[in-house]
Amino acid sequence: MKGTILVTGGTGYIGSHTTVELINSGYQVVIMDNLSNSNVEVLKGIEAITGVCPTFYEADCNDEAAVERIFSAHPDICGLIHFAASKAVGESVQKPLLYYRNNLLSLIVMLEAMQRHGTKGIVFSSSCTVYGQPEQLPVTEQAPIQEALSPYGNTKQINEEIVRDTIHAGAPFKAILLRYFNPIGAHPSALIGELPLGVPQNLIPYLTQTAAGIRRELSVFGDDYNTPDGSCIRDYINVVDLAKAHVKAIERILNPELGSPALETFNVGTGRGVSVLELIRTFEQVTGVPVPHKIVGRREGDIEQVWADPKHANEVLGWKAEESLADTLRSAWAWQKHITPKA
Ligand code: UFG
Repeated sequence: MKGTILVTGGTGYIGSHTTVELINSGYQVVIMDNLSNSNVEVLKGIEAITGVCPTFYEADCNDEAAVERIFSAHPDICGLIHFAASKAVGESVQKPLLYYRNNLLSLIVMLEAMQRHGTKGIVFSSSCTVYGQPEQLPVTEQAPIQEALSPYGNTKQINEEIVRDTIHAGAPFKAILLRYFNPIGAHPSALIGELPLGVPQNLIPYLTQTAAGIRRELSVFGDDYNTPDGSCIRDYINVVDLAKAHVKAIERILNPELGSPALETFNVGTGRGVSVLELIRTFEQVTGVPVPHKIVGRREGDIEQVWADPKHANEVLGWKAEESLADTLRSAWAWQKHITPKA
């Protein structure tokens, strides 16, 4: 055993896949999650894949007493991966205070607990949203941070600053900020995946629900962008690849021989930009399932095009996206069929 990692938001989409990869790499995992946007049943999926059921606490990261109890009950916690956060861009515009409370306070509570308990490091879930529309593509970690377009995006920026300032002030731990591009797909077993509540806001769950007949048609938000086919371009990263980046990050933090800096930031993307229309076409090709879709107007706040320069993560973290877009889309479809067996 390599030690115990506390995973907040561990029953969520990226948290559950990361828990699987941590267990497969020999770590013990303690999950804390308030189940506000996830289902406790995911623990069964994790156990079916790994043979291990992680220790689970239904608790909110803003609840200082609960956080203290969990750290005290597990003195062997050596690292923290902090996923727990509210993540709906549109909702954050409607309920900014909820987003600032949930996303900022929880990080502060966790960092304070880490200091009290001598935890060696934190991996924080950040987002390519901090770059806004970059002037240069692919975007590197040195690109300027742009003004956030939503309270959600702003919480990512502020949280990066909170971590940066805490490290700068001499905190006795290390931190890695992972800037995710667009995570998609599911575990190849189709036993865990994304479980959106209500009408999906993101492209892939909407697309797979449309393919499954749950939604009538997918709206493509704009075909008049300055891109080859006019639709927006993103860097779609397989969720298992993304999960593996977290294992690399925690290993880097915990290995004193590497002498890594106290704070590092990595883009986690494939380096390849894919348009919305290209994505739909590829899905149809690899699954043989048609996706009824229509072009509608642009969605407010959308970035035209962004994709990662993942060189820093490739070379320093020793991580590289491995899964093809085709396999990733197949996994998303297999997961959709798993949760809606009639599809
Ligand atoms: N899209 C559609 N139709 C849909 C949903 C999305 O055409 O029904 C398009 C969007 O316009 C965009 C692309 O598909 O071009 C991807 O959209 P997503 O909503 O899946 O992802 P975003 O790139 O908008 O969102 C991501 C993260 C957020 C983050 C945001 C910031 O999911 O957490 O980037 O830009 F805040």
